[in-house]
Amino acid sequence: MSAPPKTVLTTTPKEEAAIRQAVRSADLSLLGPGARIAGPSHIEGLVALLSDPAVSAPIYDLPRPINPQTVGAWIQETARLQALGEAVLVVTLDSEGQVAGYSRFTVWPDRASAEIAGARRADLQNLGGGKSGAAGSFNWMFEALGVRLIGVTAATDNPRSAKVIEAAGFVSMGQRDAIRPDGTVRASFYWELTREAWMARRG
Ligand SMILES: CC(C)(COP(=O)(O)OP(=O)(O)OC[C@H]1O[C@@H](n2cnc3c(N)ncnc32)[C@H](O)[C@@H]1OP(=O)(O)O)[C@@H](O)C(=O)NCCC(=O)NCCS
Repeated sequence: MSAPPKTVLTTTPKEEAAIRQAVRSADLSLLGPGARIAGPSHIEGLVALLSDPAVSAPIYDLPRPINPQTVGAWIQETARLQALGEAVLVVTLDSEGQVAGYSRFTVWPDRASAEIAGARRADLQNLGGGKSGAAGSFNWMFEALGVRLIGVTAATDNPRSAKVIEAAGFVSMGQRDAIRPDGTVRASFYWELTREAWMARRG
């Protein structure tokens, strides 16, 4: 399951409350016109998206097996966590209204920290869109959610993901074991990025 960053930040009650409120009311406008909070109407599209191993195989924290029941429960559970200010599940719709990608944000408001996992539909991979899409998501986490630290993992055999992460300026911090929902372990590379470093890079 999602694990908070290795680096432990502390927050004031005021900062923690502001992050929880930002997550609850998640303003998706910075994520682009196709971004929507995942709801029951997206179950079918998400099942189709995630049933493709080219999309879901590299991701450790998805429900398995992937079917309408497990995906529906995942949407519902994330909505429950969003109401607490601790997670957001976003789908990206293409120009035909089909689910073309997803991002799941896990937030630790008491540590001003967050994690993201996500994927693009197979026909949209390897077109150079991953770097800019991911940069937009990192920016949203710092700007709209107000976190100060993002931690991310990628499977050790996922060079595309590593490139996307390192292009955004994340600092490599070795490896960590990512725990799948069934309790099995996936060896992962691990990176962190602070808001300060992100803003300095952005200029
Ligand atoms: C990871 C993902 C979001 C990247 O998006 P994308 O649009 O496919 O990626 P891009 O086309 O922007 O390419 C990213 C980089 O990987 C490089 N790349 C592609 N295949 C590669 C390979 N086999 N080995 C090394 N680098 C590779 C590209 O050249 C590019 O780097 P460059 O811009 O410096 O040339 C997307 O591929 C995806 O959804 N994959 C499945 C799910 C997944 O892995 N999610 C991330 C889990 S942490």
